[in-house]
Amino acid sequence: MKRSIYLDNAATSFPKPPEVIDAMVYFMKEVGANPGRAGHYKGVEAGHIVKNARKGLATLFGVSEPERIVFAINVTEAINTVLYGFLKEGDHVITTSMEHNSVLRPLRYLEGKSFISLSIAACDGKGFLDIDNLASLIRKNTALMVLNHASNVCGTIQDVRAVKQITGDIPLLLDAAQTAGCYPIDVKADGIDFLAFTGHKGLLGPQGTGGLYIREGLNVRPLKRGGTGSISEKEHQPDFLPDALESGTQNNVGIAGLEAGVGFVLKQGVDKIREHEKKLTAALLSELRHVTGVTVYGPLKADSQTSTISLTFDSILPPGSRYDYGGCGAVNLDVMEEDIYPSEAGNILNTEYDILVRVGLHCAPIAHRTLKTFPEGTVRVSMGYFNTLEEMEITARAIKRIAERRHTIHL
Ligand SMILES: Cc1ncc(COP(=O)(O)O)c(C=O)c1O
Repeated sequence: MKRSIYLDNAATSFPKPPEVIDAMVYFMKEVGANPGRAGHYKGVEAGHIVKNARKGLATLFGVSEPERIVFAINVTEAINTVLYGFLKEGDHVITTSMEHNSVLRPLRYLEGKSFISLSIAACDGKGFLDIDNLASLIRKNTALMVLNHASNVCGTIQDVRAVKQITGDIPLLLDAAQTAGCYPIDVKADGIDFLAFTGHKGLLGPQGTGGLYIREGLNVRPLKRGGTGSISEKEHQPDFLPDALESGTQNNVGIAGLEAGVGFVLKQGVDKIREHEKKLTAALLSELRHVTGVTVYGPLKADSQTSTISLTFDSILPPGSRYDYGGCGAVNLDVMEEDIYPSEAGNILNTEYDILVRVGLHCAPIAHRTLKTFPEGTVRVSMGYFNTLEEMEITARAIKRIAERRHTIHL
């Protein structure tokens, strides 16, 4: 297989540790049974694997009762579970202008049905939430604060504890899609009431895995009801976790892989993973600082962001002219095609340099409006634990060469 530089870890991490693949193959070849459904030894072993996965996640997130973590197929399902299962008609919800569509779309849907009212807390041009303004958004009926822990567009990490200080008793749902496994999370110390995570990014597990932690005392109605392998004599859904929210056969092969991914993360240590990713981020940011014709978005500080960097190639057209240039005859509109749009840059990186990045809006249009990169979006370079400093140099050189291709226009 040819060696490419994979820089799309914010979408999904690659490669996976060999342990993850081995665990999935082992489950398929040697275990195969349905956990919690059968008393035979294979069913029992499958049950152990799922239990260990829950235990590993609990250790990682500082959860004292692993059964308060329920599995889901991804963070989108986990977020939807809270939004549909916790909110009541008439509730008010606060979220931010840096959210992913996994948060915004269900919220906008519920708002559109007049089920909830919604306030969007403003973030600044680097993606940081304006915490001072947050208190003014709280109403008597505010039932939930939904916060993106780190932006999947430009990596900006929000100060969860500072948010919780302002929102107090209002339950906090944290979308940890970009931080679980690569940034320290402690549900108690951070004041997280609902923690939604996905298994296939920083947790290094396979796609089709994720989950939700629910603080004790908070009740969530299930999105689906059905067989759980427990209290089978009853025709009603169990009301205890995790069974209440885990109906039907789960993605147990995936959970076996996730168990190994979380095991890998715990063995390495989140701090070591974070340090390595910070080094990569700092190195690429410092290289990009010297590239003319490129704008980088977000905090521009490895300490304040994940290992995700967004950039655009500057327009060669006069400022503000890209869309609304009325034309006075001085600009040859053909030249517009010489601007390097994110999609084209992504293509060049892929085909000419074998560097794999993601371009466009990254399912977060509101974040791009905040960063002023809507509607073209950005070129997103997102590193993972297995990337190297050498790859950062190669990537910076490739970006520089692309920037040098821009044509100069003469007015
Ligand atoms: C911040 C954020 N939220 C939600 C998601 C959705 O993740 P999944 O597709 O695993 O549900 C992503 C994935 O890109 C994300 O970055």
